[in-house]
Amino acid sequence: MDCAPIPYRKTAFVCVHARADGRVACGNPGRGGPEVLAALKDGVKAAGLQGRVRVARSGCLDLCEQGPNVFLHPDNEWFSGVTPANALALLKKLTE
Ligand code: FES
Repeated sequence: MDCAPIPYRKTAFVCVHARADGRVACGNPGRGGPEVLAALKDGVKAAGLQGRVRVARSGCLDLCEQGPNVFLHPDNEWFSGVTPANALALLKKLTE
């Protein structure tokens, strides 16, 4: 295994985990995780940040009740209850 440089300046991990067993999850219908992911991806494209900023879908981050959850690396910042309307503010953080 080789240690490689981090390929992106910043990465947003967006939980889109869904569950079919009735338990709450960021990716369940109506919870908004996939919509947050799409809004951030669209924003990164519109800002021409591809290749520098990565928006990655994440599995469960274990704070399901507070979701949708987004984790920003390397800022080490965590956001809960994120909606697509928050995408602009998150994009600003991704460009700082
Ligand atoms: S499903 Fe998103 S934190 Fe668990």
